[in-house]
Amino acid sequence: MSGLPGAFATTLATGRFGAAGPGFVAVLDFDRSGETFGRLPVAVAVRFASGALDVLAGLARTTAGFNAACPTALPPTFLAAISAAFPAGILPGAAFAAAAFPVAVALTRADAFPRPAPSLPPAGRPADDVRLGFARRFAFAMRPRYLLIKRDVNGAPSFQRSREHPRRPRAPHLDGPLPPLTMVQVMTLPSVTSVTAQEADAQTDVLAFVTFEEDFPESTDPLLRQVDMALGGNLRQAAADERFRGKPGQSLVLHTGGALPAAKRLVLIGAGSRASFAPAEAQHALAKLVRLASGVGARSLTLRSTWQGSGPEDEVAWLEGAARGALLGAYRFEKYLGEDSRRPSPLVSVRIARSSAVTASRAETALARGARVATAVANARDLVNEPAGALTPAALARVATDRAKALGVEATVLGPAECRARGMALFLAVSQGSAEEPRFIHLAWRPPSLAAAEKPFKRVVLIGKGVTFDSGGLSLKTNEGMLGMKADMAGAAAVINAAMVAAQEKLPVEVHALCACTENMPSGTSYKLGDVIRSMSGKTVEITNTDAEGRLTLADAMTYALELQPDAILDFATLTGACMVALGPYTAGVMTNDERLSEAWFAAARVAGEDMWPLPLPTRLKKQLKSEIADLRNTGERWGGALIAGLFLKEFVGSVPWLHVDIAGPATADKEWGVFGKGGTGFGVSSIIEYLRGIGRASAG
Ligand code: BES
Ligand code: MN
Ligand code: ZN
Repeated sequence: MSGLPGAFATTLATGRFGAAGPGFVAVLDFDRSGETFGRLPVAVAVRFASGALDVLAGLARTTAGFNAACPTALPPTFLAAISAAFPAGILPGAAFAAAAFPVAVALTRADAFPRPAPSLPPAGRPADDVRLGFARRFAFAMRPRYLLIKRDVNGAPSFQRSREHPRRPRAPHLDGPLPPLTMVQVMTLPSVTSVTAQEADAQTDVLAFVTFEEDFPESTDPLLRQVDMALGGNLRQAAADERFRGKPGQSLVLHTGGALPAAKRLVLIGAGSRASFAPAEAQHALAKLVRLASGVGARSLTLRSTWQGSGPEDEVAWLEGAARGALLGAYRFEKYLGEDSRRPSPLVSVRIARSSAVTASRAETALARGARVATAVANARDLVNEPAGALTPAALARVATDRAKALGVEATVLGPAECRARGMALFLAVSQGSAEEPRFIHLAWRPPSLAAAEKPFKRVVLIGKGVTFDSGGLSLKTNEGMLGMKADMAGAAAVINAAMVAAQEKLPVEVHALCACTENMPSGTSYKLGDVIRSMSGKTVEITNTDAEGRLTLADAMTYALELQPDAILDFATLTGACMVALGPYTAGVMTNDERLSEAWFAAARVAGEDMWPLPLPTRLKKQLKSEIADLRNTGERWGGALIAGLFLKEFVGSVPWLHVDIAGPATADKEWGVFGKGGTGFGVSSIIEYLRGIGRASAG
């Protein structure tokens, strides 16, 4: 606008903005991501912009060798405002990005200093300290050797040495495409179809029944009695001899010796007591059945028993669970095995009987739903099983983006510079010891908008811990403790793949999946014990153990999540060994600040058949996170480690309904059980999908 000093105007006019060598990068003050300006009318934008320009002009008066620049992708309104103020024009974004200045100047309105960066105000209401925070982050993104923060236009400028994290180059022989990722995961999956009772009598290699404790020794099930009769009482006899009592996990395989012309083998699977049986258990029974059938070389399998529960609704749920189980029971991770070591499932077809209460098309819908979930779970397992040497943060981001694009899910990936620009210093601190670059993944499923009269969609943010390898950092783990740590990104695998299903099913919920992906490694550039890091939220954290890295990555992801103004935040993380000590290897610990969210979550988990258990967030333990020199420290004492991690996270969620799921135990399995095979389990995927479907139903009803 008016009053621009001549020297500065000349600098702009001569266009020597991107000149190499000593100079300054002037970061213009603009609000938040700049988007806010994009939505402002020009007149208002000019007012904000000129605030920055005044300072810029003031600095130009006192500084020689000044370079001005602007960030990339400024919104049009803001650009219009700048060019109104600066008729000479501004440096285009690309040139700005290319310019490697040794010195940067973060500029903002003088009266914004010296307040520290605070929590973010609601969008659309620019606050000075937000502008300061952003300007500072943006300046950091330029990786200057020095960062000059101008306290006051008239006061003495104070120089501050900037922190520099030169990234160690990967060893040269590791460059180029990653061969393991080009190998294809080959998995033969059976087709799963639903058949009527009559159709179920067709020829099959294995005829199967899901049986209950009440069926032994004397069954009331007419079908079982009929089969037993056909076998001349052999079924009952064998069950007695083999001590098969229909308990969960039990199975009985019988060769029919031609007594049943339609089936060579008969298999019974135990499902516990009839009263406590829920459709979710069908998946465990079917998974087991599929493994057994594959084991005896069967190509076809027919599940003869039906389950009606208290009506067709239940039976449909049972069919869906059965399909899920049948497919996941056939899951293998064999991409690194040679031909000789693979044991591909010979099973080609699984047929599941339905009662006359369920139509063929309804059954088909249920099977398709089950197959969709099974595929998402299998994809999550693939990622967890993939070695960390192949699944680096960048590779994980690539897989997520490819998958997202194929389904019309919006995908944004932030590299280290962009994360720095957003102030995600906790996340970057974890990553700084690694030769692998971090990636922040943001996937978004936005349902097509409804008619104006209808209520807006709920917005849910899912956060997944994405540590692709956790060595512990300088607080190095033991060999034993480190062995399974390629699975420390299981939370990320879960949320990425669950979000895909939201899009496939076009659920009426806005779903965001956020994953701060990094390695945690020891090296000369690692973050150190005693370091104090300023989080994206503004809170400072003293590092007391570099192995408590998950909560650091999650904290910045949560601050990012808050900017999306969600109705709920759910995070999934292989966060603490302590959670496994508390609940064992198969059960996830759930901590929350919201009772209603908690109810919805546990209901979903029950339908999904995933074991979850509530854990408290006792305020009494909070003082363990007090630090002498920072707002927080990242670890407390030993007892209650899972809760302390939860309390740490709670510091970053504000008042948004939030639920934290510690999946350190169930994310991987060392024994086969039901639907869970050895290795990555894909734990969480099913429950998240059920939870989102539930919100969808609520918004429809
Ligand atoms: N990724 C681990 C937690 C973990 C342990 C997951 C075992 C799965 C199996 C996490 O980053 C970690 O190291 N946590 C520490 C926290 C401690 C330093 C406060 C732990 O549990 O020991
Ligand atoms: Mn760790
Ligand atoms: Zn970890």
